[in-house]
Amino acid sequence: MASACRDGATRLPPGPGARPESEYLMALALKTTRERILAEPDRPLTPDASQRFDALVSRRAAGWPLAYLSGRREFWSLDFHVTRATLVPRPETEALVAAVCTLIPAGSSGRLLDLGTGSGAIAVALAHERPCLEIWATDLDLEVLRIARANARRLGRCPIRFRAGAWFEALPRSLTFDAVVSNPPYLAATDPHLAGDGLRFEPRRSLVAGPTGLEALFDIIREAPSRLSADGFLALEHAPAQRAAVHAAFQAGGWVRVRSYTDIGGQIQGSVGFRPGTVSRGS
Ligand SMILES: C[S@@+](CC[C@H](N)C(=O)[O-])C[C@H]1O[C@@H](n2cnc3c(N)ncnc32)[C@H](O)[C@@H]1O
Repeated sequence: MASACRDGATRLPPGPGARPESEYLMALALKTTRERILAEPDRPLTPDASQRFDALVSRRAAGWPLAYLSGRREFWSLDFHVTRATLVPRPETEALVAAVCTLIPAGSSGRLLDLGTGSGAIAVALAHERPCLEIWATDLDLEVLRIARANARRLGRCPIRFRAGAWFEALPRSLTFDAVVSNPPYLAATDPHLAGDGLRFEPRRSLVAGPTGLEALFDIIREAPSRLSADGFLALEHAPAQRAAVHAAFQAGGWVRVRSYTDIGGQIQGSVGFRPGTVSRGS
């Protein structure tokens, strides 16, 4: 097995990560852990396992994200199931969860909506942090919702209400929220990153908003006021370079206390605004 792992590593992108990654792929092929692979280097490989390992190495060498090969990705220290229907949850989206937690005191019992929930990462993480909230989550894609529901059942601290449909259309008009959060698609259709490793395997609908990349962000900013309760807020992930355009859209809509939030390294990862008509408490 050790020699197969060595050979596998030579087919992966060169660097210090190649060998551990090859061992991890071997662990996937054998449905065991990398630690077991390291502990039993002389274990013989069956032809079936060897074939599975070879297929995994080939896909990884072709640029498939590890998360799609393993079907798992950790987010907010929770183990999410992912498939090619769902975006792979990103570490930068943890900054959105953290920003929302600073705005909602522990023990709060309001109603929160996660738009475009994907694997359910944001909604489930917030259900863990703020279990007294009534959490709703929507997505356009039924297969995505099936996975989100299963993640919520397996990982959930409290029930999450999932609905299918385009942004707010998935929900009854009469329902209002104290907080709306979203990591919508925000790449432009011509963004060169779409052709790169990783992204080209992810669902386009999760990544691309339209010609400029701002379309979904603007749609949500426009629609949200009628769905927020007084003093409710909207928190949106976006690219750092979209900050000015997003803030301008918030300001044009009369939103108050508009500000960006950052990750732990100080990089802008999104913005928050309070519903138009909310009494301003300074910026
Ligand atoms: C960037 S992914 C975010 C997934 C997840 N929230 C996360 O952070 O990992 C955007 C999600 O929005 C969904 N989506 C795209 N357009 C939508 C629309 N018009 N209405 C509702 N959901 C939409 C996609 O199916 C995808 O799951």
